[in-house]
Amino acid sequence: MIESILPAAVAAAECFGDAPGATLYPEERAALGETGEARRLEFTTVRHCARRALGALGLPPAPLLPGVRGAPRWPSGVVGSMTHCKGYRAAAVALRSGIRTLGVDAEPHKPLMEGMLEHIALPGERSCLAELVREHPDVCWDRLLFCAKEAVYKAWFPLTQLWLGFDGARVILSPDGTFHARILAPLPPTPAPPMVFEGRWLADHRLLLACAIEPPVV
Ligand SMILES: CC(C)(COP(=O)(O)OP(=O)(O)OC[C@H]1O[C@@H](n2cnc3c(N)ncnc32)[C@H](O)[C@@H]1OP(=O)(O)O)[C@@H](O)C(=O)NCCC(=O)NCCS
Repeated sequence: MIESILPAAVAAAECFGDAPGATLYPEERAALGETGEARRLEFTTVRHCARRALGALGLPPAPLLPGVRGAPRWPSGVVGSMTHCKGYRAAAVALRSGIRTLGVDAEPHKPLMEGMLEHIALPGERSCLAELVREHPDVCWDRLLFCAKEAVYKAWFPLTQLWLGFDGARVILSPDGTFHARILAPLPPTPAPPMVFEGRWLADHRLLLACAIEPPVV
């Protein structure tokens, strides 16, 4: 499912549940520490997906440890992103030579909890959502905005190592399955800081998926 919103240079793998035979490297087990069964399963299965995706790029399996602020540490020369939600796990990877950064996010296709939209949407984003809801009431646009913003954060963080709040980017969703994100937060003083992300999204009856990429999806 997730492949359909990714450019050809990105390899992905997904599971609609947990992979019974999936295992962790000892250093991944140590990094995970003591935790509940649900967390252990999602952490393990998403890494199983990530190793399948790395294999599709012709790369060997490797430990994938959480790094700064939880961002995964990918093998040298690789960029990627992982996501999990109830009944779904996915990982997407690419060679850094082809894609500078990417972020993926999955959410249940349900409206956000009461009161949450005010925390994650800028006033202009809320007006755009109102119009989208009127024209396409079958999509939970509020949750999709949240999903797209989390995908943007997962693409932004590995490049900048900086926090980005929900007011730190303006996301414009289009009914054609694309979105556009512009960073509003102060940019880091690095060469070519990421200012814009292009994205694609997908909704089915159960799930929302979003992917944010720089350079733009072609
Ligand atoms: C980090 C965050 C985006 C994770 O999203 P989530 O919907 O809670 O969880 P998901 O299952 O989709 O993703 C979790 C995976 O994201 C990855 N991740 C965690 N922190 C990350 C970071 N700082 N950068 C990139 N990827 C990160 C990890 O691989 C993690 O899985 P793992 O712990 O099993 O390795 C979210 O918890 C968060 O902090 N959001 C606030 C920041 C934000 O979204 N700002 C919006 C800017 S417009």
